[in-house]
Amino acid sequence: MNDIINNMIERRSIRKYKPEQITEAELEAILQAALYAPSAGSRQSAIIVVCQNAELNAALGKINKAAFKGRMSTETAYISKEQPSIADNAAIQSGFYNAPTVLTLFAPKNFLYSVADCCVAAQNIMLAAHSLGIGSCMVARAEDTFGGELGQRLQKEWGIAETYEAKIHVTLGYPADSKPPQAKPRKDGRIIRVGA
Ligand SMILES: Cc1cc2nc3c(=O)[nH]c(=O)nc-3n(C[C@H](O)[C@H](O)[C@H](O)COP(=O)(O)O)c2cc1C
Repeated sequence: MNDIINNMIERRSIRKYKPEQITEAELEAILQAALYAPSAGSRQSAIIVVCQNAELNAALGKINKAAFKGRMSTETAYISKEQPSIADNAAIQSGFYNAPTVLTLFAPKNFLYSVADCCVAAQNIMLAAHSLGIGSCMVARAEDTFGGELGQRLQKEWGIAETYEAKIHVTLGYPADSKPPQAKPRKDGRIIRVGA
């Protein structure tokens, strides 16, 4: 395996962060990686909002958590014991896990590939972050985070067109735990080789 493949295999979702902010140079490198992600039709239509304001991130993270209507974890069906998600631990207050940096990817509402564009950019962000020793977690429900009064007001204030919609968040920060969480074992039968 080479370094890039190892980076992909070793990256884990991090939900426990140190409060200190990542450096500007690190952020810049991560954003460059995002800007060079593939985009449908080479349109480069996804935009990335960087928020390092703790108060705003706490308010938006609370809205994001409130929008979670998924199944809560059980003893046998859980997301992560080491780095619990909001489905694992109802006491967690923010869907952003108090990460010092939260990126939100916005893309056109009426474009078939908006979610895909945002997700490939998010993957570049997470892999670039991991290569720099920075933890990350992809967080869903961005449409809900920005769909209400606060989110819509902020979207306008930040000059993001009404035709755009928030599609996905990525949290960033230095991991609080020195030991990374373990990957779950990979499920069998997910690769089907044909034509032999
Ligand atoms: C589309 C997508 C949405 C996700 N949404 C959330 C989320 O809202 N909150 C969260 O804590 N983790 C979220 N995750 C992270 C997954 O829980 C995580 O990738 C999974 O548990 C596997 O762990 P790993 O990333 O450490 O390999 C999301 C991941 C994907 C791909």
